[in-house]
Amino acid sequence: MKVLVTGASGTLGTEVVAHLRSVGLDVRTHDRAGDSGDLRDRSVVAAALDGVDAVVHAAAIPEPISHPPHETFGNNVETTFHVLDQAGRAGIRRVVNVSSASAFGFAWSSRSVSPVSVPVTDEHPYVGDDVYGLSKQVGELIAATASRQWDMTVVSLRFPFIGSGERLRRHLEPIHADPGADRAGLWAWLHTLDAARAVAAALTADVTGAPVVTVAAPDTTALEPTADLLRRFHPNTKIEREPAGFDTVFDVTRGYDLLDYHPRHGWR
Ligand SMILES: NC(=O)c1ccc[n+]([C@@H]2O[C@H](COP(=O)([O-])OP(=O)(O)OC[C@H]3O[C@@H](n4cnc5c(N)ncnc54)[C@H](O)[C@@H]3O)[C@@H](O)[C@H]2O)c1
Repeated sequence: MKVLVTGASGTLGTEVVAHLRSVGLDVRTHDRAGDSGDLRDRSVVAAALDGVDAVVHAAAIPEPISHPPHETFGNNVETTFHVLDQAGRAGIRRVVNVSSASAFGFAWSSRSVSPVSVPVTDEHPYVGDDVYGLSKQVGELIAATASRQWDMTVVSLRFPFIGSGERLRRHLEPIHADPGADRAGLWAWLHTLDAARAVAAALTADVTGAPVVTVAAPDTTALEPTADLLRRFHPNTKIEREPAGFDTVFDVTRGYDLLDYHPRHGWR
């Protein structure tokens, strides 16, 4: 299988490319950080897709603060539309759309929102007020539309913070000093290698349509038990099922069931 990986020079893309090659896939890389051109240009997308069987779309501006809002929205939505629309037209039947747990709307909210209930399932209502989460929501709608239009499987993976090594250490340090530092992120995380493995699983899983799948580590980033964190920082959230120990607040069972995938890497 020949796979195009967009955003291939990024934090996630680099690991995805290495992992897909390690399991024997023929990988073509694309990133505007190299000399491959910008995916907002349809002719660049057409050249990148030429002759591939599947696509991992990871290119995006991955947060709402480094660029003006219209730039983040325009970049993320336009690239996702071009990649999915042209993949469908080219007869490609499998795309992994890298979405984000930010698509729930908690992570970058300026209103200190809380989940309605936990575990947070993939059906939890969208509560966002930031442009990055919005761009990822729209990306998932583009995925659902293209899937129906072109009879193509598009798996959208909602990842929380992704990291390993020094990046992960820098993320954990303030949370261990004060768990309130990750209130908005709901203490969710995923090791970069596990994110790459989830992408590989989504490329070959026996699924159709446009499933949205939240993939997170089974545990949190925090030193305190999850139920205590929820009572302290999200007192209005309804606890449908009390999380045990350091369990993640997200319902990650869809990934286990649909993708036959389990994270392997921990930090504790
Ligand atoms: N980093 C995280 O913790 C995290 C968490 C959840 C989801 N995600 C998602 O994972 C994906 C990868 O994120 P990352 O952290 O690796 O980001 P990154 O910024 O490290 O990498 C993204 C890459 O995409 C490229 N890119 C962006 N727009 C482009 C365009 N118009 N044309 C061509 N290339 C373009 C950039 O040059 C960059 O190298 C993104 O979709 C992001 O939203 C990241």
